[in-house]
Amino acid sequence: MSSSIRKVAIVGIQASGGLGHLVIDQLLKSSIQVTAVTRDAPKTKASLKAAPNLNLIQGDYTSAASLAPCLRGHDAVVSLILRGQPDPQILVIDATIIADVPHMITSSFGIDLQQEYLRTLPPFKGKVQMGDYVAQKASEGLITFNSIQTGIFFGWGLSLGMMINLKDDGLPSVLFDAGETKFSVSAEEDIATAVAVALGKKDKLPMNCSLFIHTAAVSQNQLREYAKESRPEREFPVTLVDTAKEEKKAWEAYNNGERDISKMGGLMSRGTFGLGLGLFKHLDSDVLGIEERDEEWLKAFIARYM
Ligand SMILES: NC(=O)c1ccc[n+]([C@@H]2O[C@H](COP(=O)([O-])OP(=O)(O)OC[C@H]3O[C@@H](n4cnc5c(N)ncnc54)[C@H](OP(=O)(O)O)[C@@H]3O)[C@@H](O)[C@H]2O)c1
Repeated sequence: MSSSIRKVAIVGIQASGGLGHLVIDQLLKSSIQVTAVTRDAPKTKASLKAAPNLNLIQGDYTSAASLAPCLRGHDAVVSLILRGQPDPQILVIDATIIADVPHMITSSFGIDLQQEYLRTLPPFKGKVQMGDYVAQKASEGLITFNSIQTGIFFGWGLSLGMMINLKDDGLPSVLFDAGETKFSVSAEEDIATAVAVALGKKDKLPMNCSLFIHTAAVSQNQLREYAKESRPEREFPVTLVDTAKEEKKAWEAYNNGERDISKMGGLMSRGTFGLGLGLFKHLDSDVLGIEERDEEWLKAFIARYM
């Protein structure tokens, strides 16, 4: 892979699903020099494998100006900063620009927020604002960026019982609209590969846009069938949920002043499982080196979480 990118700073190392650690490993394997920027260097150091090419530094995230010195001198920034709130994400974009780093991968890693329905949902407000902000900065010629959209983090979602409850606790899986809707999922290892390839091939990729990958398109019923095959002695009970009703309840709560994101699940499940917007129609997997996995691979992956 030939690329203009030799030195990369990653901000937000303890990201969900171990993503920060996996991205660091992939970049180091690609012979890229990596700086890991974190709010708590001793804590992050204890959780990271020692690597000769890894530079770990404590970042001050209180302002873009205070974070910028950590980023200066790098060819690109990978942001894995927390979702939901736009402010810390915008701060990383501003810090990248102040530090004269020419390129970034934004902290996106989710659903296609060009879909009009999804753009209106409160849980995605932060991501939409961040996406619009970086696009504006790119149009002003201050930076180039790619966002990598992944669908649901497969391992993370399975460990939380989000798509299917794999725990042997007798609790039912919530099946949205009978569980037949297909949606995109990406294994965390594949996401880390896509980040490394997107940086390695930067000069050959379309700029200032989202790139889409998935490890597979699955339905909840399909995941349940795989789980049953793996543990035939278990029941895997279900409870059915109507996403249109859940959507209505979530909007009622929101309109009554509820702002707790955990109460907004009905909006996300309506978008992903009810309206089928969690399934990517266009994929850039080939160009980012991501192979679509088959049934055997999916069964083995699920078995890791049982
Ligand atoms: N598609 C999916 O299913 C899925 C699932 C999970 C996550 N994600 C994506 O992965 C990315 C990160 O995930 P996440 O939202 O779950 O984030 P997170 O793990 O809560 O946080 C990521 C990092 O952000 C930094 N951080 C946390 N709180 C902060 C604060 N108040 N101010 C500034 N920095 C803070 C921390 O970095 P340090 O402590 O190292 O400084 C933390 O490790 C996001 O883009 C998210 O959308 C996607």
